[in-house]
Amino acid sequence: MMGLVVLSLGIAAQPRFATPDLEVWLNAQASIAETKMFANFSPPGSMPGTILASPSTHDPNYYYYWVRDGALVMQSVLDLSNQGSKSARAAMETFVRFSRDNQIRAGWNLGEPRFNVDGSVNTEPWGRPQNDGPALRALLFIRFANQLLAEGRRDYVINELYGSKLPADTVIKEDLEFTAHHWGEKCIDLWEEVWGYHFFTRAAQYMALKEGADLADKLGDGGAATFYREQAGFIEKELSKHWSEEKDYYLSTLEMNYNVDHPKPSQLDVSVLLAALAAEQESGILSLTNDRMLKTAIAVEASFKTIYGLNRDLSTGTAIGRYPEDHYFGGNPWVLTTAAYAEMNLRIADQIARAKTFVLTETQAAYFAEAAAVSKRTVGTLSAGTDIAADRALKTQVVTALQAKADRYLERIRRHANQDGSLSEQYGRDDGQMLSARDLSWSYASFLRALTSRTRANASASAL
Ligand code: NOJ
Ligand code: NOJ
Repeated sequence: MMGLVVLSLGIAAQPRFATPDLEVWLNAQASIAETKMFANFSPPGSMPGTILASPSTHDPNYYYYWVRDGALVMQSVLDLSNQGSKSARAAMETFVRFSRDNQIRAGWNLGEPRFNVDGSVNTEPWGRPQNDGPALRALLFIRFANQLLAEGRRDYVINELYGSKLPADTVIKEDLEFTAHHWGEKCIDLWEEVWGYHFFTRAAQYMALKEGADLADKLGDGGAATFYREQAGFIEKELSKHWSEEKDYYLSTLEMNYNVDHPKPSQLDVSVLLAALAAEQESGILSLTNDRMLKTAIAVEASFKTIYGLNRDLSTGTAIGRYPEDHYFGGNPWVLTTAAYAEMNLRIADQIARAKTFVLTETQAAYFAEAAAVSKRTVGTLSAGTDIAADRALKTQVVTALQAKADRYLERIRRHANQDGSLSEQYGRDDGQMLSARDLSWSYASFLRALTSRTRANASASAL
C-alpha cells in the first residue's frame, strides 16, 4: 500500500494531483531516509565506523569519509539514539572508536578534511585544512557524553570521550585542544572553496569550546574549562564582526581570499543558518530568533527566489541552495539546505510554544506575519513589543503558522525526491530532478533532523 503511495507521489512533479497528506509521506520517508543513510555506514572493506559522504564513485566521486559530513550525520544518529534506538547507540560507539583512530592518523593536522574508506588520510590535492571538522566532531561527542553521564556511564565517558590527560588520548579532549589552539587560523570553508575566516567554522569552534568547557567542569577538569571558556569568549567577539550594517546580514567569510573559481561578492550564504542549527541555542548570537540571524536567513531565501526557475512556482517552500553565485553542477538547490529551512521554522515554533514570554522585535513580527501569509493561516496583529506568549490565541496562531511554513519545505523535498525516496545532494534548478552525488548521507541526516524538530514542535504545540 504505502509503497504505491510513495511511488505515485514521486512522479507527481507538478501539478500535484490530490495527494494523501504529507504526514503519510513523511512517515514512510523517515524510515527510507534512515535505511538509506545507514547503508552508507561501514561499506564492505572499509574501516568500521566509516561514513561515506555518498556511494557515488564518479561525477562526483564522494566515496570517502569527510570529517564534517560524518559529524553532522552522526548528530542525527545521536537523535535516534536518544529516542531509544539500540542500533543508533551502537553506531555512535563504533564512531567513537573510528574517530579516535582517525585523529591519530591525522596527527598534528586535525583539519584534514577527508579520508579513504580504509581509514588512511587522503593525500590528493584538496582544500585543506578545514577546521570546522574537529569542532563539529567535538560538539557531537560532548552531547553524547552528556547523554551517557545522565545514564551513569561515567567510566566510558572518561576512558573513551573526555579524559583530562595531556597530551590527549580521548576524542573530545583531542579535538578541543586542537580547536582551542588553532581557531585563530584561516582555513578552507565548509564548501571547500574559499580561504579565510568563516562564520560557520567559527560558530562550530565557539560551540565546541563553550559546551566543552561545561563538560570539563562536570568532569573535574576545571583548569581546562576556564581555558576553553576564555577562548570561546574570544571567538564570540570574532563572530559578531561578521555582521554587515550595510548589507544587513552576516557575511559568510571575512578576509576572504578570492578563489577565482568561486567568486562570492554577495557574501550571503546559507552556511550561517546551518551554523545556528548546529548550535541549538535559544538565546545569544547563534539563536534562530536573533534578529541578525533571522535577517540573514530571510536574505538567503530571497536571493534564491529569482535565480531558480523552480521558484516561479511557490506552491511549496522555496527551493534553497548554498549561495546565490554557486555554480557547482550548474548551481542548484540542495536537499540539506531546503531541509534546513524546515528545521529552522520548526525550532522557532517549538521555542515559542514553550516560552513563558516572547516579546517580538520588528523583524520577528514581520517574519511571523509573512509565515502566516505564505501558508494561508490567520494571525492577529503582530507588532514590535507584543508579548505573544501572553496571548494564548495569538501564540497558537504564530506557532501554527511556523509549522505550516516548515511543512512547505518538506513538501518541496517530497516534490523532487526520487520515486523510491532516495535523495541526492542537489535537485535541478529548473527541472527539479535529483542531481549530483546520489544518496548523500548529509541529505538524509538533514531530513531526519527536520523530522525530529517537527515531532518536538508538535508535542510543544499540542500542550498549548
Ligand atoms: C567544488 C564544490 O563547490 C565543493 O563544494 C566541493 O566540495 C568540491 N568542488 C569538491 O567536489
Ligand atoms: C561538497 C560540499 O560542499 C562539502 O561540504 C561536503 O563535505 C562534500 N561535498 C562531501 O559531501
